[in-house]
Amino acid sequence: MNRFKEIDKYILNHIEPEDEVLKELDRETHLKVVGARMISGHLQGQVLSIFSKMIRPKYILELGTFTGYSALCLVKGLQEGGKLITIEIDDELEIFAKKYFEKAGIQQKVEQRIGPALEIIPTLTETFDLVFIDAHKPEYPAYYEAVFEKVNSGGYIIADNTLWSGKVLDLPAEDDFQTRGIIQFNDLIKSDNRVEKVILPLRDGMTIIRKK
Ligand SMILES: C[S@@+](CC[C@H](N)C(=O)[O-])C[C@H]1O[C@@H](n2cnc3c(N)ncnc32)[C@H](O)[C@@H]1O
Repeated sequence: MNRFKEIDKYILNHIEPEDEVLKELDRETHLKVVGARMISGHLQGQVLSIFSKMIRPKYILELGTFTGYSALCLVKGLQEGGKLITIEIDDELEIFAKKYFEKAGIQQKVEQRIGPALEIIPTLTETFDLVFIDAHKPEYPAYYEAVFEKVNSGGYIIADNTLWSGKVLDLPAEDDFQTRGIIQFNDLIKSDNRVEKVILPLRDGMTIIRKK
């Protein structure tokens, strides 16, 4: 085992253990769902859960439900009476995620919306204390612009995969729209004085943005 893998193992052994519902969801996702590596997983999920508990949001917006792992983690910090709205374009994932929201007994706190995030965001009437961006990478800059006015002052936007396996360092190919989207997003955040920001080199990079 190389040193990085040992460190990862050490970290996982010294943090809050993964709860049974999350463990089962992770397992079933890897057994049955194409693209299972997209799941947040234990370390990132625990980070999201703790951030959410620090922020104590009333309303959370998530872009990219997938099988529901990050939603289950984010919901843990909701205020009493709060709600998480999670948007997913793939209607085949709706039932899968719902099953786990029910298993965890949080279905009342989660509203699943199926469709393209950029079409659904303008229809939302809530304002959010926390937004988690984890959907289509080329659309990250557009997601940011679309959600910005719906984020409360002092609220947070967390964006996943912002180091994109290190590809942000190189000049992307003309048709590499994913890397281009992430680079454009990172540059946009860098130059936006309405927010404070930091990039954590956690997993594939996670940007934490605070609206002033
Ligand atoms: C990286 S996965 C999300 C992982 C999930 N947050 C988790 O931690 O388990 C990205 C998800 O975004 C969805 N997606 C892609 N394009 C989208 C769009 N335009 N609108 C909404 N969801 C989209 C994909 O179908 C996929 O399920």
